[in-house]
Amino acid sequence: MLEELRNETESLTPRLIQWRRGFHRRPEVAFKEFQTSAFLREHFEKLGMPVKPLAGTGFRAELAGRPGGKTVALRSDIDALPLQEEGDKEYISLNPGASHSCAHDGHMAVLMGVAELLSKRREQFQGRVVFILQPAEELPPGGAKAMIEEGALEGVDAIFGLHFWQPLPTGLIGIVKGPMMAQSDNFRITVKGKGGHGSMPHQTVDPILVASHLVVSLQSIVSRNVDPLKAAVLSFGTVEGGTVYNIIPGQVKLSGTVRTFDPPLQALIERRLREIAEGVSKSLGAEAGVEYEIGYPPLVNDPASVDFVLDVVKRSLGEERIKPIAPVMGGEDFAYYLQKIPGAFLFFGAGDGTKFPHHHPGFDFDEKALPQAVLLMTSLAIEYLKRKS
Ligand code: NI
Repeated sequence: MLEELRNETESLTPRLIQWRRGFHRRPEVAFKEFQTSAFLREHFEKLGMPVKPLAGTGFRAELAGRPGGKTVALRSDIDALPLQEEGDKEYISLNPGASHSCAHDGHMAVLMGVAELLSKRREQFQGRVVFILQPAEELPPGGAKAMIEEGALEGVDAIFGLHFWQPLPTGLIGIVKGPMMAQSDNFRITVKGKGGHGSMPHQTVDPILVASHLVVSLQSIVSRNVDPLKAAVLSFGTVEGGTVYNIIPGQVKLSGTVRTFDPPLQALIERRLREIAEGVSKSLGAEAGVEYEIGYPPLVNDPASVDFVLDVVKRSLGEERIKPIAPVMGGEDFAYYLQKIPGAFLFFGAGDGTKFPHHHPGFDFDEKALPQAVLLMTSLAIEYLKRKS
């Protein structure tokens, strides 16, 4: 069966590329994926699958094999980034200010391909395959949470997902047992001082000076409060304040992100961030307002599901494809599915011949990865449904 599947996947390649480029030309950002969703929906319906709309522009489509057995879900995100694409690709984005610069166009094409292959094999497997097409991965609080609340995982025993990964050479698989991607929170600090003339600082409380202290002193959290053997990041993304060179402004706004892998460490960082921001500001006569927003939880792969994925990779693509990797500090709302049911998320290498990283205006991935990923995801579904326990 594997040989047959391999050949069929190969001959599907031109259509996979066509689908992917179609999405790439018409990217739509979080929760506005109307055309994208309609196109996908038509594909799944044509293959005879009932489709249930979820979370606005998302849906789940269900493929039933022989009666009985288990249910396995495969998930793709469907949103693009609010980013102007640059470069000279023949299939460059035609929607100004939006681009598929994270490869979600590829993820959709892969699930379309898997659906095509599996729908011809309904008689060859027992159980059901649920396709989860999820909006808004890029915009916290994200689409996954809403999908789950509206029933995306109903009756599902396990879930698998992939991300094409530009830092890995094409065809290599990176996966981590346990925590693989970070919790990603964000914060905003408003430092309120007292404005005045730049020549008379003694009459003011200078929020620029206070904010500068905060940028420096908040770095002490990771270096002094966090266990050196644990991973954490605190980065600032914006510093905003002032209008002209000779006015001390009334307030300065800072924003940034915090990344961690374990909840107690996250709580420690949040607490210290508030204490330092408020304490340092007060000591300099200013006041700090802190807003801290909890983002996606850490993505934690179920160890047994990772063993299963590795076994299927060995059999379908070859053992040499497995590349040991370290966890990454990026966030991913696939984490929510893994909080509910067992499963695993993997990085599928697609970096050959590419120059720019994910979320860069010139980002692209190697389309040779498309049929290989279809083969792997199809095999994962079939092999999972064969399992007895
Ligand atoms: Ni992404």
